[in-house]
Amino acid sequence: MPKYLIFLVQQHFSFRRPELESLCDLFNIKISNLDDIDKNLENPFFIVNDIPNDTVARKLLSRSILCKGIYELYECAEDGSYDTLHKQLSNNKTLHLQIQNNNENKDNSSVNTDFKFDFEFFGGNRKYSAKQKIEIINTFQHLDIKTNINLKTPGTTYTLIEHYLPLTGQTSSPTPHKVYFTRLVSLSRRTGQNVLDKYDLAKRPFRGTTSFEAELSLVTCNIAQINHGKLLYDPFVGTGSFLCAAAEFGALCFGSDIDGRMIRGHTHRTPSNAKPNSSERSLNGKTKKSNDTSKYQTNGIKTNFLYYGYPDQLLDVVTMDFTHNSLRNSLKLDTIICDPPYGIREGIKVLGAKDPAKHERIQTVLRNGQPAYLHRDYIPTKKPYSLDLLLQDILEFASQRLDLGGRLCFWMPVANSNDIETVVPLHSNLELKYSCVQEFNKWSRRLLCYVNRGESYNGPTNDISDGSARNEFRKDYFNGFN
Ligand SMILES: C[S@@+](CC[C@H](N)C(=O)[O-])C[C@H]1O[C@@H](n2cnc3c(N)ncnc32)[C@H](O)[C@@H]1O
Repeated sequence: MPKYLIFLVQQHFSFRRPELESLCDLFNIKISNLDDIDKNLENPFFIVNDIPNDTVARKLLSRSILCKGIYELYECAEDGSYDTLHKQLSNNKTLHLQIQNNNENKDNSSVNTDFKFDFEFFGGNRKYSAKQKIEIINTFQHLDIKTNINLKTPGTTYTLIEHYLPLTGQTSSPTPHKVYFTRLVSLSRRTGQNVLDKYDLAKRPFRGTTSFEAELSLVTCNIAQINHGKLLYDPFVGTGSFLCAAAEFGALCFGSDIDGRMIRGHTHRTPSNAKPNSSERSLNGKTKKSNDTSKYQTNGIKTNFLYYGYPDQLLDVVTMDFTHNSLRNSLKLDTIICDPPYGIREGIKVLGAKDPAKHERIQTVLRNGQPAYLHRDYIPTKKPYSLDLLLQDILEFASQRLDLGGRLCFWMPVANSNDIETVVPLHSNLELKYSCVQEFNKWSRRLLCYVNRGESYNGPTNDISDGSARNEFRKDYFNGFN
């Protein structure tokens, strides 16, 4: 079996293994040493021995956001020296056989045997001039590659990856720590298709103060195992960041929010650089003019789906309090993803009144002979609610509505305090699969991922319905996390 090298991004460390593991599980790909990713966080190179072929490698990378690319690894000079690398390569039978095959196929028009050499660097400021690159590439003449050089559309890209270690502070060692000789198999969704730029919030026509950043929205969808035709529900949909990211991976999307303005959209100045994608179609299927941006100004989440070119994947968005959910009980969901309210701008609110007697009285008020609350323009009263109880409600809802094996992913804010233990909410039907942390200065947020295992699972619980609120994020936030 070929050996592959996966080049990981050097950020969001606690999300890298969960993302790759979730994608492997989704595509039924077995990688036995995924734990290695977490063993040395300084090292972005993850070497895999059990990916069977390039097709499988490409499939995995076609979704990944936290990988940069995957390469077939021929040799690694562990001492960072090109002399060592050349010695090792001269004994590498796999490489010689592949080169020989290409040489023999040189005149076969159906096979692209053209090649080029490329360089990748990690950990240093090393840059080679064109002349230096050619000098290095020429030292590989002993490989006896007889096919044509093609810098634009090569069939094979031999990539030299130089790994440098930092010496002190900003300075890095002048010579590489290791040098890898590889063949590029595939760039990832991130680097090959530039999705971070596509979903950049600054370019999104409809967005708000709560919109979730592009990179971690896409990673969340990978960890949630979104796939073509899966039904996703975001119960705190806001401006629909997770719906858009999930639609990129083929999901059918549904969302709800207590705030109708989020659903309806509001006047929003379209950034001048927000040009519709070339693939964009209007709802009636006709292609729209690419310089007409005015149409994006007020149409909420639908606007974004139109902009990204998949309007048919938005099933609907409705105004609804999550704790008074009106989705029919028998509707099975594949995935739930959300970023519940943190209660910063205003405390967390749900429908109802603090004073139950007042609530009863309100219900008896008539307007034009009809109960006032049945009028379309009726604005219901709201009462405060705690984040802990809301999270508990989300778990309960997921345990009832998710298909077996379906995933719930939500973000939970946490104050970084040494004396408060972070309590991750649990439910007896749900397996807590991952708890990934994004650190900020005085607080952090966790992406919690659960799998619905059904009633027979009988996992640990930490029911907090007695009201013993543990996550006092709002209070800590306004106290400056002291
Ligand atoms: C952190 S924001 C989610 C932002 C969203 N992910 C986005 O990309 O814009 C939380 C959302 O929950 C909504 N919300 C608050 N309480 C709610 C409730 N009881 N039921 C449903 N939605 C609620 C808020 O209106 C807000 O839009």
